Amino acid sequence: MAPVAAAVEDKYDASQFQPSYSGKTKRGSITVSQDNQKLALYPQYLPTWNPLQKFPPYKFEKYIDKGHQASDKFENLFSLGSAKSTDYTVKRLTPKLGSEIDGIQLSQLDDKAKLDLAKFVAERGVVVFKNQDFNDKGPQFAIDFMNYFGPLHIHPTSGSPENFPQMHITFRGASQDEIDTAFAKNTNSISWHSDCSYSLNALQLTLFSCLQLPESGGDTLFANTVEAYNRLSPAMQERLEGLHILHSSVEQAETNKKAGGITRREPETNIHPIVRVNPLTGKKHLYVNKEFGRRIIELKKEESDYLLKFLYDHIEGAQDLQIRVSWQPNTVVLWNNATTVHTPCVDFDEPVIRHAYRISVMGERPVSDLKYLNDENYLKEKYEELGI
Ligand SMILES: [Fe+2]
Repeated sequence: MAPVAAAVEDKYDASQFQPSYSGKTKRGSITVSQDNQKLALYPQYLPTWNPLQKFPPYKFEKYIDKGHQASDKFENLFSLGSAKSTDYTVKRLTPKLGSEIDGIQLSQLDDKAKLDLAKFVAERGVVVFKNQDFNDKGPQFAIDFMNYFGPLHIHPTSGSPENFPQMHITFRGASQDEIDTAFAKNTNSISWHSDCSYSLNALQLTLFSCLQLPESGGDTLFANTVEAYNRLSPAMQERLEGLHILHSSVEQAETNKKAGGITRREPETNIHPIVRVNPLTGKKHLYVNKEFGRRIIELKKEESDYLLKFLYDHIEGAQDLQIRVSWQPNTVVLWNNATTVHTPCVDFDEPVIRHAYRISVMGERPVSDLKYLNDENYLKEKYEELGI
């Protein structure tokens, strides 16, 4: 695999490992400090790093979205027309991105309702479910729930509860050190990205649930990349057709290693189109992010830097295509990791625990045109040209 020169400053999400982690599990894995273990409300979800745990490189996989089998009007998710329809509320957070649902328990959905859920999330980009009983059911339940939609991604460097490598844990400990390091090298924590966009088959349907939270703060911001594409002029849309970005996890792995973390899978470098099509909705969207995108392979460096800066500024600066999700106890959010980008927001400075988990379904390999969907040889010549 060709190494790729670092082009970005790694920020919050680049390393999931905090240098201050000092605990050990009974099996000898690294975990959070004993102080944090005592303060954690959900110890069964604490992150652990087993230095001996290794996973092979990902290979191309065909993918068929469950959302293709959804009912036309999401009748199975919302039980439209029945007495149940008064038991819940569905509210659009903005016209084109995000919905908030209260009164429907994800844990009670049958398979048909889950098919509707897959399509509803694809259409709305982000769906916030309030007052869920998910967290108390344990890691296995959450993993089984998501496994219905497809194979689950295993993060290359993240900590996970022992025996549940598909669960990606984000954990900020109750220590002043961790708060202080958050802004040691950066003036802010904003880092827009699509999770693990360096993966060959991209992460798609994603579930995120907070287990323990500060009283306020630690929100997540989302941007709509379908709308970001639609806002461009026809001339700019045309200019982007046929361009591809190199995505890389090399820097993420290095940052993590330097902090004392482990590598469960060797870093990946892949090429994806800038304009990607969602197989379920057929809509085009931008597929670019500063954290893992490195360069446009068809352009010279200065040209690539110029165009990528424009695209990043366009998405990050347009608050009129973004939403901000404020986490509350028992809020569970599902998002489409292709048609949105997101950023953490570390705006709390009291030394309290913020503990959450993420589970992602491996979706299709990104394509610029649905005629290439599930084609293993897509972009083969470009890979050969670059020697990847
Ligand atoms: Fe993320």
